[in-house]
Amino acid sequence: EQIKKGNYDHFMQKEIHEQPHSLTTTMRGRLRANDVVLGGLKDHLKTIRHSRRIIFIGCGTSYNAALAARPFMEELSGIPVTLELASDLLDRQGVMYREDTAVFVSQSGETADTLLALEYALEHGALCVGITNTVGSTLARKTHCGVHINAGCEIGVASTKAYTSQIVVMVMMALAIGADKISTQSKREAIINSLPDLPNKVSEVLKLDNEMKDLAESLIEVQSLLVFGRGYNYATALEGALKVKEVALTHSEGMLAGEMKHGPLALVDETLPIIVIATRDACFSKQQSVIQQLHARKGRLIVMCSNGDASSVCPSESCRVIEVPQVADCLQPVINIVPLQLLAYHLTVLRGYDVDQPRNLAKSVTTQ
Ligand code: G6P
Repeated sequence: EQIKKGNYDHFMQKEIHEQPHSLTTTMRGRLRANDVVLGGLKDHLKTIRHSRRIIFIGCGTSYNAALAARPFMEELSGIPVTLELASDLLDRQGVMYREDTAVFVSQSGETADTLLALEYALEHGALCVGITNTVGSTLARKTHCGVHINAGCEIGVASTKAYTSQIVVMVMMALAIGADKISTQSKREAIINSLPDLPNKVSEVLKLDNEMKDLAESLIEVQSLLVFGRGYNYATALEGALKVKEVALTHSEGMLAGEMKHGPLALVDETLPIIVIATRDACFSKQQSVIQQLHARKGRLIVMCSNGDASSVCPSESCRVIEVPQVADCLQPVINIVPLQLLAYHLTVLRGYDVDQPRNLAKSVTTQ
């Protein structure tokens, strides 16, 4: 086992640091000049483009990855995109049409809730697409078509590298679906051309490791933590909070910043740490105003911003900053989650908890 961990103390740590490589293998052989080729989807793209709706279905981190990809999928496909937690779809017996494309996202390809939702979608005649890390998994076998994320084996119970690879696969899927749409061509080409550099940007953000350890030390005693995001980074807020919850066993909630004034604002005081994701995108000025409102209520702020923005986003000396490289808006969630993965990892080690096998959790939940 130690050999497999290489120079790392834990699989989660290894898998976080492996992301420049796993993202490279996810994209390998799939990028062309101004085009993306996903062999497993190419015969079905026409059907997907004519679908009435694209529904992403998953659990846990896989659901969050779909949430991160949704805005870009909507923008490039022009098709309404909805999201379903697999268990909730089953509980509601939600409406599903033959003209729907149901995209199932699962690292293991064996999560019981996701597989039951797949059975449900097959019964309703939807086109079923699988996005998984596991070749030969039940999900890969039972869907009509799909894409392997090729992130390599993930052992830590808390998913890290699979999350970023899932997002990149869904971004590539949106690029493939949107190939015939003229209005978004220049954006599409810009994203395709920036994808090869994404692993380098992830290497850059991994240099924040010591800074995140230092931040974890300052948070070691906290009982609770909030993460506010919106737009492309609403998913980052949910996923960052999920990492802290899962491994550091610390209560943590990811919240849509747009909902802050509808309840969460009541929680703000000098002790509760709040991470606000305010990297540059169409939501930036709204996040600046969220930071101002939290500061006015003496919130304990930790702001994630784009490189060089620290002085413009931080309202006071006491505000901690996490500066990250800026990339295209739809790829920014891949960068922004990395410091939060590192934070969760260090908080777990400092608290003396089991990193790779958190209590009560399983890597793959194969029962309902
Ligand atoms: C379990 C794991 C999570 C994972 C979820 C979905 O709850 O502990 O880390 O995100 O299952 O797993 P899947 O294999 O379907 O992506």
